[in-house]
Amino acid sequence: MSKKPIRVAVTGAAGNIGYALLFRIASGEMLGKDQPVILQLLEIPVEGPQKALKGVAMELEDCAFPLVSDMILTGDPDVAFKDASWCLLVGSKPRGPGMERADLLKDNGRIFIAQGQSIDKVAADDARIAVVGNPCNTNVMIAAAQARRLPADRFTAMVRLDQNRGRAQLAQKAGVSVNEVSDLYIYGNHSPTMFADFTHAKIGGKPAADVIGDEAWLKNGYLPAVGKRGAAIIDARGQSSAASAANALIDHVRDLTTVGAVHSVAVKSEGRYGFNPEVWAGMPVRTTASGFEVITSYEMDDFSKSKIALTNDELVGERETIKDLLA
Ligand code: NAD
Ligand code: LMR
Repeated sequence: MSKKPIRVAVTGAAGNIGYALLFRIASGEMLGKDQPVILQLLEIPVEGPQKALKGVAMELEDCAFPLVSDMILTGDPDVAFKDASWCLLVGSKPRGPGMERADLLKDNGRIFIAQGQSIDKVAADDARIAVVGNPCNTNVMIAAAQARRLPADRFTAMVRLDQNRGRAQLAQKAGVSVNEVSDLYIYGNHSPTMFADFTHAKIGGKPAADVIGDEAWLKNGYLPAVGKRGAAIIDARGQSSAASAANALIDHVRDLTTVGAVHSVAVKSEGRYGFNPEVWAGMPVRTTASGFEVITSYEMDDFSKSKIALTNDELVGERETIKDLLA
């Protein structure tokens, strides 16, 4: 095994997503089947979660994964993020039935101040950060606000689960395999206001709207169903999505490390697609040798512009609510 191990920090490692995620990182599905990893696992520094973390690590050991060079279990962010090239920020409270993700703003937001500071202080020079903990677009903004060393484009949040959901639902409606659905990207917030841009999506290489032939369903059935899928899962399972979220995070990181891959990522908008320059909004990005470039060539019609305006307003509102956490 010749490659140098990559240090991957995962927060909330003993939680539900952590349990669905770590074994897939360890088996090489995220960074490659020939890429050794050092897993640096953070949990809150109290007995219960630390004991649970130990249990997860025991199971990882019992898999005898050849790619796991080492495992570090800790309650200290400075240890977890030390020299990490990927920082996967999952640890935070999930919402329960009847809550919106925005209800978690203040509680979870504080976590990302300390973690943003620690990452900026001790993570590797090439560190990249992917935020999953909700509300993820705003939490990534809080973490990035602490960075003095790392540039803002290293900080991303996950809207890939929404892209995967959106593709699956179009495929189901059209009665085709999900492989037939392409060019479906998510704009804006990971919340019911997100815009799953069906106007540019394709099914079997043809415009999805033509194949589906039901504009009312696309606007009034499909969009809310994708936007509220998280709540539907919570209603059905009694707890929030975990395996599909972990799967989406694997996709998020794998595609961000695969030159030429195009997918939806929440990035600092810098004013693209009419978003407020300071918010992190979902949009299509293409991976390059040195990072990624945002694809800005999609022309939006009036309907799409109105949807983007709505999700932008919500992101700006979230930013306003937590502005004291951005100092
Ligand atoms: P969980 O409650 O099962 O696990 C969260 C874990 O994080 C717990 O073990 C907890 O002890 C730990 N934790 C809490 N604060 C921490 C801190 N400061 N440092 C380290 N660890 C900490 O929750 P889950 O189901 O794994 O979900 C985690 C988060 O992911 C939630 O906020 C959830 O809403 C979010 N989520 C996001 C998406 C998305 O698409 N962006 C999808 C699913 C879930
Ligand atoms: C999801 O979309 O499944 C997650 O963000 C969990 C949630 O609260 O909806």
